[in-house]
Amino acid sequence: MTIRTPLCDLLGIDIPIGNAGMAGGTALAPLAAAVSMAGGLGAIGGIDQRGPAFLREQIHAVRAATDRPFSVNLIAWILDVAPAFLDVCIEERVPSVTMSFGDAGPHIARTKDAGITVIRQVQTIAAAREAVAQGVDVIIAQGGEAGGHTGSVATMALVPQVVDLAGEIPVIAAGGIADGRGLVAALALGAQGVIMGTRFVASEECTTSAHEHREKIIAASADDTIFTDVFDIVDGMKWPAGISGRSIKTVFAAEWHGRESDLVALRAEIMAESGTPNEAPVRAHSAYAGQSAGLIHDVKPAAAIMRDIAAEAEAVLAKLRT
Ligand SMILES: Cc1cc2nc3c(=O)[nH]c(=O)nc-3n(C[C@H](O)[C@H](O)[C@H](O)COP(=O)(O)O)c2cc1C
Repeated sequence: MTIRTPLCDLLGIDIPIGNAGMAGGTALAPLAAAVSMAGGLGAIGGIDQRGPAFLREQIHAVRAATDRPFSVNLIAWILDVAPAFLDVCIEERVPSVTMSFGDAGPHIARTKDAGITVIRQVQTIAAAREAVAQGVDVIIAQGGEAGGHTGSVATMALVPQVVDLAGEIPVIAAGGIADGRGLVAALALGAQGVIMGTRFVASEECTTSAHEHREKIIAASADDTIFTDVFDIVDGMKWPAGISGRSIKTVFAAEWHGRESDLVALRAEIMAESGTPNEAPVRAHSAYAGQSAGLIHDVKPAAAIMRDIAAEAEAVLAKLRT
């Protein structure tokens, strides 16, 4: 038996697994193309300092590698000030756009009008209700275990509640999932698929830019992450209320978490250490990753990650039936 859900037909994929479109150069064309070619939903992290023209290049690179469907992830509150990232997706008629963090409302109608499948990632029940009212095609329920920016409701509680209110709209689970057990658990909660970020950071195709990001994930257990604003303060970013970043607890995060106002005051001095105006010094780099880091022990090709998870999920299902 292969694990297949109605979501697969909606998105034109074979396996209900996707990679998170991780911004800032983490999920670029090589990862998106590898996941899509392996039958999943590959995604590009669309927001990048290199700008909308760079996103267009990434879209072209995925299309040069495969004609399978893929998604572009856009951070909604950044679109409010930089709508050109969405313009590129619309001009390029990408198969789907995933929006997260902030009120995606103003951007959803024009994306749908362009015939693009709209996926909205939510962290709360209120946002899930809003997404239903906005007529999105798919909702990702992202739990607080997730790596990167997220909310604070756990995946186990969030997913079934979002499923209950989503009606016919398929729900994808994200946060804390890194193996076949997690996939089966997500399906049991009523999700029709999973999105994984942390697991795919430790893939061969991930173009991780942060220093020793993968090594830190492989060395970490579930106890080693922190939910914090310190990296946003360093980056000079103001995220929507209720959203913070989950990262491996680096020396810098441990030093400044809880002392945010001191960090605000010293930010300019810390930034000056790097010698470049917009880039944080090495010691202040995030290593965004979720609590699933403790399940990840190796760097593998994306296709192997997907194959192994699908096989493990089938073995778990068979065992549950005995
Ligand atoms: C390094 C990293 C970067 C991320 N960047 C984004 C992003 O740009 N946009 C977004 O919607 N989610 C982002 N996320 C969150 C993912 O979309 C996803 O919800 C999360 O990774 C799922 O949890 P997991 O890390 O436990 O698999 C990021 C996650 C990580 C680990």
